[in-house]
Amino acid sequence: MAPVSERPIPGVIRQLRPSDLLRFRDHLLRLDPSSRHDRFNGGIGDAFVAAYAERSFARGTTVIGYLEGDEVRGAAEIHECAGHDEPTAEIAFSVEPQLQGRGIGALLFERLLAHARAMGYRHLRVTTHPGNDRMRRLARKFQARLSFQAGEAVGVIALDPLPPVAETRGEPWWPLRMLGFGRGAPVASTRAIGR
Ligand SMILES: CC(C)(COP(=O)(O)OP(=O)(O)OC[C@H]1O[C@@H](n2cnc3c(N)ncnc32)[C@H](O)[C@@H]1OP(=O)(O)O)[C@@H](O)C(=O)NCCC(=O)NCCS
Repeated sequence: MAPVSERPIPGVIRQLRPSDLLRFRDHLLRLDPSSRHDRFNGGIGDAFVAAYAERSFARGTTVIGYLEGDEVRGAAEIHECAGHDEPTAEIAFSVEPQLQGRGIGALLFERLLAHARAMGYRHLRVTTHPGNDRMRRLARKFQARLSFQAGEAVGVIALDPLPPVAETRGEPWWPLRMLGFGRGAPVASTRAIGR
């Protein structure tokens, strides 16, 4: 059998829609006690997790999901932190235990950075406990500056400001690049809809 890190990743990564709330909630509820502890920095019960998922969606948190079939199996969250001089968000990650160590966390992180930058965030903070090696390795991989305060490991990632529109004219926006649109290609699909 292939080592865990080389097993295929059959699912898709996409931003979750409002109608995905229950899928997101069920994903968080499926985390085993140790992953749940790492994710929320403490031992918490199902009622808290369910309320947390609802609150996140109600507040417009951006959640990027890793989905296999109809189930969310991994998530990366962007929570805005108000009151900072520059746009700042707290980010968080979760991958279900049986899928950890295959690179899904890294893929979610990469996608989250693109979303966060497109939203104009300049600073991202990720908080975990100092013993969470996976998260620390993941954060380092994406150049997070890690510091330790009061029993917490806090990683800070600085993002470049968005370039003025004039500098990017003709460059397709990154999701369009993923759809195969290249420089100079039409920005919208020409497929007729509903006619
Ligand atoms: C942290 C988490 C999201 C990472 O997701 P993942 O899919 O396992 O991540 P990846 O497979 O991309 O691996 C990330 C790093 O962890 C390392 N890793 C994987 N399995 C490991 C293990 N058993 N022990 C130590 N490190 C491990 C990987 O090698 C990789 O580091 P590298 O690139 O330097 O080799 C996932 O483990 C998780 O959900 N943990 C519980 C919740 C949590 O801790 N969230 C973070 C706080 S918000």
